[in-house]
Amino acid sequence: MTKALIVYGTRYGATADTSEVIADVLRKEGLEVRVVNVKEEKVQNISEYGLIVVGSGIRMGSWTKEPEEFLRKFQQELAKKKMALFVCCGSTHPVTEEEEKTRAIEDARRNYLAEKAAKHNLNPVALGLFGGIYNFNKMSWIFRKTLSVVRSKLEEAGFKEKEDGVYDIRDLNTIRRWAKKVAKMVGSQP
Ligand SMILES: Cc1cc2nc3c(=O)[nH]c(=O)nc-3n(C[C@H](O)[C@H](O)[C@H](O)COP(=O)(O)O)c2cc1C
Repeated sequence: MTKALIVYGTRYGATADTSEVIADVLRKEGLEVRVVNVKEEKVQNISEYGLIVVGSGIRMGSWTKEPEEFLRKFQQELAKKKMALFVCCGSTHPVTEEEEKTRAIEDARRNYLAEKAAKHNLNPVALGLFGGIYNFNKMSWIFRKTLSVVRSKLEEAGFKEKEDGVYDIRDLNTIRRWAKKVAKMVGSQP
């Protein structure tokens, strides 16, 4: 059985939950999967894994620190392995005029994924750009204030609070389809 490792960093929870959604799909496709929040647990060795998936949430244009450190630490090994990158972010539903949306999504794909892969000399089998979660209860007051415009736009766009102050803008089917594609590319037999 191919062993897969999913390593993630999160601030507001979307990347943690998305990692579990990806793990479920990979398991159904016959892979053995371990999921690690790399802020809580350091990974010492990746030699046993035939697939590595690295994910991060985005804040102010940046990845979380720990998955980036993981990419740096294992750069040489990762360059030889089947690996994939994904991010959870707000750029799938940018708060801009309609004609700017495509550009915002393209920019996000380039800045958060393609450039990250290039920076670490990686050649991922897939790049996943997914939506995120806006949890206004977990934000500092300054972020809550800054993002109040996003909140109004989400409401205007028809997003409903999942619970008080929490908007989930992810499309789980997109995530599942992506994970299935990754599983097919890698295969369940090492
Ligand atoms: C303060 C703040 C800043 C953010 N900045 C960005 C950004 O620069 N680009 C983007 O696409 N999404 C941005 N987002 C949306 C986050 O990417 C989204 O909340 C995502 O779920 C974060 O991942 P996490 O939940 O795993 O931490 C921002 C969200 C917050 C709360």
